[in-house]
Amino acid sequence: KNMSIIIKTRAQIDLMRISCKLAAEVLDYIEPYVKPGITTLELDKLCHDYIVNVQNAYPSPLNYQPNPKGPAYPNSICTSVNAEICHGIPNDKPLKNGDIVNLDITVYKNGVHGDTSRTYLVGDKVTPQAKRLVQITYECMWLGIKQVKPGNFLGDIGHAIQTHAEKNAYSVVQEFCGHGIGEGFHEDPQVLHYGKAKTGPQLQAGMIFTIEPMINQGKRAVRFSSNGWTALTKDRSLSAQFEHTILVTPDGYEVLTVSPNMPAIPDFMK
Ligand code: MF3
Ligand code: CO
Ligand code: CO
Repeated sequence: KNMSIIIKTRAQIDLMRISCKLAAEVLDYIEPYVKPGITTLELDKLCHDYIVNVQNAYPSPLNYQPNPKGPAYPNSICTSVNAEICHGIPNDKPLKNGDIVNLDITVYKNGVHGDTSRTYLVGDKVTPQAKRLVQITYECMWLGIKQVKPGNFLGDIGHAIQTHAEKNAYSVVQEFCGHGIGEGFHEDPQVLHYGKAKTGPQLQAGMIFTIEPMINQGKRAVRFSSNGWTALTKDRSLSAQFEHTILVTPDGYEVLTVSPNMPAIPDFMK
């Protein structure tokens, strides 16, 4: 497959730092609202208004239509609850104590996009099993990030993620992947969250892409909602996801989607 991975200029990298920080700051802003009883539509409206009125930016998902034969995305953020894997569309159903919900934020400012997501625990009744899925998914993302340096292979990232997920008896969703990002929301390369070490393109300084593993408690199989967007686990098991946007630097990586309140970075990154 022909891939053309853009090497970003200094100027593009400086703008990406801004958009990515804004996206991460939306995740910090919304965190205190993620409580039992709020609806995902209310979370969408709060994020929309923050991005548009406070950040003077645009929520990239709104009216996004990657497939001309499919529907445009109707909202400003993705809200994927419990067995929803990704691209959950906000609705008027209140979140329940014990739910897990991924909020995926993409912000467009100065001509470039920044993309990041977290899975939140709703209330104080999330089961230990669900908490463990969320924690291992977070570790999977960071183990992928740890593989990012010039000369390593794209396959090294997927291999590290898949190894950790499967060691914990979870499965990796294969229908969605991380992606290059910049002036385009979804650019080359495709960043698979599974695969073989030392395969695929080699990483070079100046590449920017997301790492956003979706990890299922049960089997990896996906079913698609009739809304044309939402992916769910076929076996109805829980699914979790985290996402950062990463710059390949001459020595390794820089996480661009940083914010004051991001969850603690695992000790194995030190
Ligand atoms: N933010 C998602 C990603 O990580 C893409 C969402 S597309 C949307 O790639 F239209 F559903 F918002
Ligand atoms: Co995203
Ligand atoms: Co993404």
